[in-house]
Amino acid sequence: MRILLTGGCGFIGSAVIRHLLRQTEHRVVNIDKMTYAASEEALEEARHDPRHLLIRADIADAAAMREIFVTHQPDRVMHLAAESHVDRSIDGPGDFIRTNVLGSFVLLEAARGYWAGLPADRRAAFRFHHVSTDEVFGALGPDDPAFTETTAYDPRSPYSASKAASDHLARAWFHTYGLPTLVSNTVNNYGPWQFPEKLIPVVTLAALEGRELPVYGDGSNLRDWLFVEDHAAALVRVIEHGAPGATYAIGARQPRSNLDVVRAICAHLDRRLPDPAGPRERLIRFVADRPGHDFRYEIDPSRTEAALGWTAPHDFETGLARTIDWYLDHRAWWEGVRASRYAGQRLGVTTGAAA
Ligand SMILES: NC(=O)c1ccc[n+]([C@@H]2O[C@H](COP(=O)([O-])OP(=O)(O)OC[C@H]3O[C@@H](n4cnc5c(N)ncnc54)[C@H](O)[C@@H]3O)[C@@H](O)[C@H]2O)c1
Repeated sequence: MRILLTGGCGFIGSAVIRHLLRQTEHRVVNIDKMTYAASEEALEEARHDPRHLLIRADIADAAAMREIFVTHQPDRVMHLAAESHVDRSIDGPGDFIRTNVLGSFVLLEAARGYWAGLPADRRAAFRFHHVSTDEVFGALGPDDPAFTETTAYDPRSPYSASKAASDHLARAWFHTYGLPTLVSNTVNNYGPWQFPEKLIPVVTLAALEGRELPVYGDGSNLRDWLFVEDHAAALVRVIEHGAPGATYAIGARQPRSNLDVVRAICAHLDRRLPDPAGPRERLIRFVADRPGHDFRYEIDPSRTEAALGWTAPHDFETGLARTIDWYLDHRAWWEGVRASRYAGQRLGVTTGAAA
């Protein structure tokens, strides 16, 4: 199949492309605007692979998107391009509305125009997979049942509101125009190549460098944690076997509080590289909470597991050990990112650690 994938130089998109090239015969056209979050290094192995083509383009550019569909004739779309960092959405929501809402609309319209002109067999086989987050469902209390495919939307941050809007557009294009869209909502991802502004890399690098580990509030905010390679495998199952109009709630069944996550990182680093000054937990500092910080997100993935024959292979401790070891082995990458592309205002120094 020819897959048009957006955001393929990002954290999850690059994992999906590596998975596609290693495990399948599919071809990938990767549309990426190359924002601060993009990393071509994450696709080093795809650089000389004739099955991968990177096109630098903005999904909100309607003419460019129309031309790309006509030129590359995709059988599938996997839409991952987004502004994805909650703290940045609080500081400046405009880019989130532009890319996540307007960009998704433009891409849906380009896909619809192209799809309408396909011969009947290719039109029937076409799929548009919109990749989204569990944050659209709002926050859970300690004893609430986990989110499922049918949980009502209740987004609370500019990021989650913009993702909720795009989920609604994808479903509306299915119901109104018959465009075969699918939506997946997924828990927090972690793993190699995650930009060093998100919880696990922020804390890993600060702990490694002996800096303070700021934790929002009392650290009790709880998230389910999915290893990015497991997510990539699930997304490929969705695009190969998913049903048009369906929603897939993807989770790992690995809920951990932020404080548990920070402690687990300290413990793994202490085992790998003991700090002569003492256990790294001494560096933990509780700081003022993020505005509107959702208490708990958790997904019940039972239906998706049954529908796709997929469960997340990694438990949190195994995936975390692989992730931390990867950051230890890729110092040149994250030092380069910090030096050249990152303004530094959100590196876990002045702000708390939250996913
Ligand atoms: N990271 C998570 O934990 C998580 C969890 C659930 C869902 N998601 C969703 O998965 C998707 C990918 O997340 P990620 O963590 O890989 O994000 P990321 O921020 O690491 O990567 C986003 C990529 O999209 C590209 N991009 C941004 N704006 C663009 C535009 N206008 N046109 C073209 N490309 C553009 C960026 O250059 C970057 O390569 C997002 O839709 C996100 O909402 C992420």
